[in-house]
Amino acid sequence: MATILDGKSLSIKIKEQVKNDTKILTENTKIQPHLVVVLIGENPASASYVRGKEKSCINAGIKSTVIRKDESILQEELELIIKELNEDKSVHGILLQLPIPKHLDSEKVISMISPLKDVDGFTPSNVALLANGNPKLVPCTPLGIMRLLEHYQIKIQGKHCVVLGRSQIVGKPIASLLLLANGTVTICHSKTENIKQITKQADILVVAIGKPKWVDDTFIKDGATVIDVGISRVDDVIVGDVNYEKARQIAGFITPVPGGVGPMTIACLLENTLACYKYLEGVSK
Ligand code: GUN
Repeated sequence: MATILDGKSLSIKIKEQVKNDTKILTENTKIQPHLVVVLIGENPASASYVRGKEKSCINAGIKSTVIRKDESILQEELELIIKELNEDKSVHGILLQLPIPKHLDSEKVISMISPLKDVDGFTPSNVALLANGNPKLVPCTPLGIMRLLEHYQIKIQGKHCVVLGRSQIVGKPIASLLLLANGTVTICHSKTENIKQITKQADILVVAIGKPKWVDDTFIKDGATVIDVGISRVDDVIVGDVNYEKARQIAGFITPVPGGVGPMTIACLLENTLACYKYLEGVSK
């Protein structure tokens, strides 16, 4: 039976650390770190994530502002909001909650976010730095996964790491980070043939495809580490992309859903916000 990778507990430790650092820095500088989240429309999942981010910021002593806009917002209006946030010296982090409505050009808006305030690590310059092996601000979910692997001393070097999913938010950046840690990385996606043959070889399997309980024990090598990034609501129960009950019979380590990757994402968002603050304010602890 697999050992549980307890993201909830580790995230509490990281949040405590951020809270302590924030307290000392705020006392020294008299300037509070400030994260602004831009939320467009009424997507219930997004609204719930944003509430979670807001609550965690406040608990850590980080000021949180949520700019809520109707889904009819025009591209020009959204661009103006980003421009003003870039210029606002009291703002250290900017997060555009995704997805945004289809009539908006998300790539253009993201590219306008100051790379120094890019707590999501989604701007072209931060993406390029990671791809080139010199990361600065790294997307929060992949960063959280790396923290979990590190905490549980799961060896990456030389290991076959298989990533299911090629999104900008998770698949591509986690593949880059695992490669940077000297893993042998394979990325699979919806067009990949013989996917089970590949996942069966994985020492570390990261699943980020948004399909509830899609990966079961037949995809997994005996003793492998399974990281489940999925969060779906099925019959009012939160489940991941992995069939947890089946997968835990064969895996060596596994993240639960909820309580695995999700809380780590928020903890890493707080860390990234504090990193932006320190850089922009020219302070260290
Ligand atoms: N939507 C789902 N995950 C994320 C994330 O990590 N960042 C942002 N901005 N939006 C998301």
